[in-house]
Amino acid sequence: MSQFEKRTTELKKLVNQQLAGMLTKKLPITLYDPMRYVLQGGGKRLRPLLVLLACEAVGGKVESCLPAALAVEFLHNFTLIHDDVMDQDDIRRGRLTVHKKWDVSIAILSGDGLVALSYRVLLSKSHPRIAEIGTLFSNTLLEICEGQALDKEFETRKEVAVNEYFVMIQKKTAALMALCAQIGGILGNGTDAETEALRSFGFHLGVAFQLQDDLLDIVADEKLLGKTWGSDIMRRKKTFLLIHALQQGDATTKSQLQAILQKEVIAQSQVEEVKKLFQVAGTIEATQQHINRHFDLARQYLHRLPSSQGRQFLDRFLDSLVKRQY
Ligand code: IPE
Ligand code: IPE
Ligand code: MG
Ligand code: MG
Ligand code: MG
Repeated sequence: MSQFEKRTTELKKLVNQQLAGMLTKKLPITLYDPMRYVLQGGGKRLRPLLVLLACEAVGGKVESCLPAALAVEFLHNFTLIHDDVMDQDDIRRGRLTVHKKWDVSIAILSGDGLVALSYRVLLSKSHPRIAEIGTLFSNTLLEICEGQALDKEFETRKEVAVNEYFVMIQKKTAALMALCAQIGGILGNGTDAETEALRSFGFHLGVAFQLQDDLLDIVADEKLLGKTWGSDIMRRKKTFLLIHALQQGDATTKSQLQAILQKEVIAQSQVEEVKKLFQVAGTIEATQQHINRHFDLARQYLHRLPSSQGRQFLDRFLDSLVKRQY
């Protein structure tokens, strides 16, 4: 096991122990059972790791940023529960989603409960800049909501421009990753320049991450992904892939795609067809190019930090995301 793998395994264990320790309350069972179910259902824990590694990369200690690391994971899991209701998805992390295992009311409420826990732990430790961190956190939550609103609006829109797509994913996904790296920098007592560089690093990591998520929706192994294959197609999501194929595909590709999009219901059996159209239009390669570009940008910002083992761990973190299959 590499030094990086050792460190991230340790940190992930610490995060999981702490998260579990904050979810011991039993009653009402319809609130706490689903909250526990979601947090114990796996997940890569990328956001808390990003907080912790960013903090260490500027010479900070884990103790100082652990509450913030836990807060971003609670917040992320809240977004997932509500996102699965909005996207009508049945499977997450290889298990039934909360609204499928229980119902929509329980999904709404357990999500709300996780928001409460995220603020409670974020504000549990005093820090000279805690008010600023609280504001950044709240602004990010609102930005995620904006991104999710755009994502839903785009489902029923015929045409969405590439730059509108990028604004949407910057809000729904990159904003949180940017925040993670930024608060790691602040709590680690990094300089303003280091913290800004970390924020941009997290931001581009987040853009690449969502592009990959869109790509994996159609190219990943469903079992490994732990989510329903082709969900974005069935929901008419204006992913980068769909926008690209509709713009760059030849006339037949475009009209075949439009015909599928005009159907009352898009069945999973049509996903394979769409995948072929994406391949014909060169969409998979085009998406991969954008992913690579944002990972490169992330790397450039990261390298504004002085070289250290902490920075090297963030480099390895980036490498692990480049290779991710789920
Ligand atoms: C899924 O995030 C939601 C997106 C922003 C694409 P992750 O892929 O990090 O989800 P988990 O926490 O590992 O399940
Ligand atoms: C999710 O985007 C973004 C947030 C949860 C805020 P997706 O809807 O693509 O995420 P998955 O694919 O369901 O994980
Ligand atoms: Mg979703
Ligand atoms: Mg969604
Ligand atoms: Mg997705």
